[in-house]
Amino acid sequence: MPTLEFKGKQHIYAHHLTVPYRPLESDKTRSCNPTDTDDNLIIHGDNLHALKALLPRYENRIKCIYIDPPYNTGNEGWEYNDNVNSPLIRQWLTENAPVDNEDLERHDKWLCMMWPRLHLLKELLADDGVIFISIDDNEVHHLRMLLDEIFREPNFVAQFFWMRTATPPSLSKTVRRKMEPLICYRKSVGEKLSLFGGKTEGGDMPLLNADNNIRQLEFPKEAFSIVNLEDGIYQPKNYGRIRLIRQVEVQNGRFLSNPIMEGRFKWTQETVTREIELETRFLIKSERFSIRYERKDNQRTKVPSNLITKTECQVGTNEDANKELEEIFGSDKFNYPKPTSLIKYLINMICNESDIILDSFAGSGTTAHAVLDLNREDGGHRKFILIECEDYADTITAERVRRVINGVPDARDDALREGLGGSFTYCTLGTLLK
Ligand SMILES: C[S@@+](CC[C@H](N)C(=O)[O-])C[C@H]1O[C@@H](n2cnc3c(N)ncnc32)[C@H](O)[C@@H]1O
Repeated sequence: MPTLEFKGKQHIYAHHLTVPYRPLESDKTRSCNPTDTDDNLIIHGDNLHALKALLPRYENRIKCIYIDPPYNTGNEGWEYNDNVNSPLIRQWLTENAPVDNEDLERHDKWLCMMWPRLHLLKELLADDGVIFISIDDNEVHHLRMLLDEIFREPNFVAQFFWMRTATPPSLSKTVRRKMEPLICYRKSVGEKLSLFGGKTEGGDMPLLNADNNIRQLEFPKEAFSIVNLEDGIYQPKNYGRIRLIRQVEVQNGRFLSNPIMEGRFKWTQETVTREIELETRFLIKSERFSIRYERKDNQRTKVPSNLITKTECQVGTNEDANKELEEIFGSDKFNYPKPTSLIKYLINMICNESDIILDSFAGSGTTAHAVLDLNREDGGHRKFILIECEDYADTITAERVRRVINGVPDARDDALREGLGGSFTYCTLGTLLK
């Protein structure tokens, strides 16, 4: 397999193994309704040390990791450094990559920074877990090769494209970038992986006009109802594109024997059986005998497309994310946050209601917001772990989560105004353990 060479790689190769343990120290005054040791966590500190500190308790336990690392654009004018020249990373490179820091080119530095962190993230991931990484064109090609090496090539799942803006700056010199890559790898190809692209509640049963061999479907009478039609005997008859081919009796909106329909169905008999296992119901609502299907609540059955947009997935853009933050803080506190709807969409792709979600480049705390929102929607018990190294871990990251938990008085959304509920324990990193 081709591998990526970069300056400093040899020195950083096994660095994740020698990162010292620093204990997590909880800070009650900054925590919010803290509960037990299994509480949600917001950790202030370098994620390299924080990830190592999480290992004894969380190794192989995280179902979904979402990270949004610095894209290495070279832009240093933001409240966080979007490249690897932040004081923290400069100091870490000086101490740990024995190549002189000044000799490392910008991409080398970024790769040296990501390598050990990705290794530790992999150790924390459950065997059936996945990692999603937001990135842009500056490092996407390097990141794919790094991940091929660390996670192994067969564990590549997909490169999604999130529509980050509908209105890219018209002054863009070459290409107006509307989409942003989002890379997904799984921990182990040996585990069955089902990704869900959201819930399909139902609709008209798909028919296929092209010639195919599926002409007849038998529906179990228990799953079939009929509305707005008189009780009685229904004779075999042509109803537009569907034909009832067996005489059936209807009483109280229910068929008394299994109806057999003829048409050019897209669904196979196996699909019908699978849907019935999922408790999908079939309905005939009109004289035309078109068949509607209605899925039970919370069925997540749609396989995701690699395009994540508002129209397809109800996922917002950067502009929506800015509005969300403004609603919470009353001002523009953070550049380029991700929308909560994007993280909810990713979590829903893989997680059950009690899974743990980790974000080690937490920024404005969108991932915690997304987890709390999902829990409120379905009564789930998902947990989050957030790590942020900058001082605003308290004043932005944790503060957003406090506000979202306790309620945002001016929010338009009722649930957010009342508060989503929940808790977290705020932690810092203690001194090095030898
Ligand atoms: C692109 S922002 C993440 C934005 C986030 N997804 C949101 O929606 O607000 C990247 C964040 O990672 C943080 N970060 C960078 N290097 C880090 C490190 N070594 N440890 C912890 N956090 C780090 C930065 O301070 C910044 O807040």
